[in-house]
Amino acid sequence: MASLGPLSELEKGDFPKKVFYKTTVQDAWVEQEMEGFLYINKNKEDNSLLIMSPICTHLGCAAGNAEVSMKENEGVEFYCPCHGGKYDEQGINVGGPPPRSLDVFESFIEDKNVCIAILSPMVREKRKK
Ligand code: FES
Repeated sequence: MASLGPLSELEKGDFPKKVFYKTTVQDAWVEQEMEGFLYINKNKEDNSLLIMSPICTHLGCAAGNAEVSMKENEGVEFYCPCHGGKYDEQGINVGGPPPRSLDVFESFIEDKNVCIAILSPMVREKRKK
């Protein structure tokens, strides 16, 4: 599990945003420090938090090593430099080789913080054309 902080803090500022986490994960008897980041945007449908993995769905490069670049009149785009994968601001694959959208995390509240199961990102359903 990874805590992303209070919902009131996550709701502040512009979207999409890059949010860092640091946690300890338990795998059988091994405990391990883990840190990284995620992208968070608002779901278009219900305005809830859309928590996205930055791992490119092509071959696993971190799309986040690429910058979230703002293109004039085109909105925000996530870009994976490995092979030129592109995702829109909702993490939908819109260009290059990625076969599907960025994976997402379900969230829950614990001790007033938004938490996710960091080792269990979910594959999104394919977008209908
Ligand atoms: S690993 Fe991201 S485009 Fe290939």
